[in-house]
Amino acid sequence: MATISTSSSRPYHIIVFGASGFTGQFVVEEVARTTAEGPAGTLKWAIAGRSRPKLEKVLDQAAGALSKPELKSEVEIIVADVGEEESLAAMCKQGVIVLNCVGPYRFYGEPVVKACVENGTHCIDICGEPQFLEGMQLNYHNQAAEKGVYVIGSCGFDSIPADMGVLFTRDQFKGTLTAVESFLTISTGPEGGCIHDGTWQSAIYGFADSVKLRSLRKKFGYKPLPTVGSRIKRRSALFFSKEIDQYAVPFMGADPSVVKRTQRYLHEEHQESPVQYGAYAGVGGIASVVKLLFAGMLFWFMVKFSFGRNLLIKFPELFSFGVFSKEGPTKKQMEDSSFCFTFFGEGYTEGQDPMQGKPNAKIRTQVKGAEAGYVATPIAMVQAAITLLNEPKSLPKTGGVYSPGAAFAKTTLVDRLNKHGFQFSVVTGPEA
Ligand SMILES: NC(=O)c1ccc[n+]([C@@H]2O[C@H](COP(=O)([O-])OP(=O)(O)OC[C@H]3O[C@@H](n4cnc5c(N)ncnc54)[C@H](OP(=O)(O)O)[C@@H]3O)[C@@H](O)[C@H]2O)c1
Repeated sequence: MATISTSSSRPYHIIVFGASGFTGQFVVEEVARTTAEGPAGTLKWAIAGRSRPKLEKVLDQAAGALSKPELKSEVEIIVADVGEEESLAAMCKQGVIVLNCVGPYRFYGEPVVKACVENGTHCIDICGEPQFLEGMQLNYHNQAAEKGVYVIGSCGFDSIPADMGVLFTRDQFKGTLTAVESFLTISTGPEGGCIHDGTWQSAIYGFADSVKLRSLRKKFGYKPLPTVGSRIKRRSALFFSKEIDQYAVPFMGADPSVVKRTQRYLHEEHQESPVQYGAYAGVGGIASVVKLLFAGMLFWFMVKFSFGRNLLIKFPELFSFGVFSKEGPTKKQMEDSSFCFTFFGEGYTEGQDPMQGKPNAKIRTQVKGAEAGYVATPIAMVQAAITLLNEPKSLPKTGGVYSPGAAFAKTTLVDRLNKHGFQFSVVTGPEA
């Protein structure tokens, strides 16, 4: 099998594609902060997108924000458009890895994956859309494997904390971990939190199309993963969680799909015992529950019709009660926000047969980090790229389309993230 060397003669280790987007601009800043972590202590990089003036502005802003005026002269700009195949090929040929920030991925993602695979370039994205992620695995895994290309999706807040968090919990457990439930809580400051319109649009089209995901999954023809240990109980659509002392709902994002893909890969490729997973998100008190129910029902109803979708897209702030906006969060909102995943794991201590009786041990871990969408996501994406560049021998033996946990289970990604503001930890003492 071919592999792509990080010491290849290509001019750039990393190309940030979609650098002019709301998220892309923060990925650019994060790459600029991280250049000393590239192979042999240097990182060669460029930014790309469809509008040169916008990309120049991004470099200008990053130069100001980081007090690095040299960015304006040293970082090259590549003009490439998703709709122009040759421009994507020309971009891909110049880089070892493309960090793809152009979304919604269901509309713009596939041509980038295709161009990366055809031109021997690794591809990392921050997609949170299971249909796109699983579709790329179905359609490009074999071709990527032949080319030695790693296509690693969902390397942002969706779904590195959840996916690597389950693996961290398993690695810290002394015995066989059989099930994990995660509870996500988001903290915001006095001005509240906000998510940019790009993610709102991805969510709208994702929900509208959820039926197709079921038929896509059938095409894999997978056997069900074996259930090791007691079967995990599915919680109801809304419940009071004693674990986090607030109301909680099943987490609607990509995490369950991504974690399951990782567990399947590790079971099938490395014969590791699969961990069952349930993902939940804290909602808060009763007032928040009422607001969520109202917004949720309205969203559920409107997303089914193109007229409704158009209204949702036109007025994100109105229909999301201010959670999403076309402007995105302010600097202050980002500074004051943080996330915390708490993982409640159970399993069987060493010497206990997980196929007999009830689990006899528990573990509690946490993954904490700064604001999820535009601080933690760029860090996770860039550290995924740095890991890919520096630890090629610890990646899966062949290229392919992988979840983050499948790609990085044997690497030091968790340690790298811990050095960049994430905190993966075991909760000990009476709280555990
Ligand atoms: N995993 C996570 O936790 C996480 C966090 C944040 C964001 N995201 C995802 O990241 C994606 C981007 O979000 P965002 O809020 O940054 O969106 P955005 O601000 O709308 O950015 C979209 C980017 O795509 C570019 N683009 C659009 N069409 C293009 C084309 N034909 N050719 C080349 N570039 C094109 C835009 O270029 P122009 O500037 O020229 O228009 C812009 O740079 C979304 O899918 C979002 O869900 C995920």
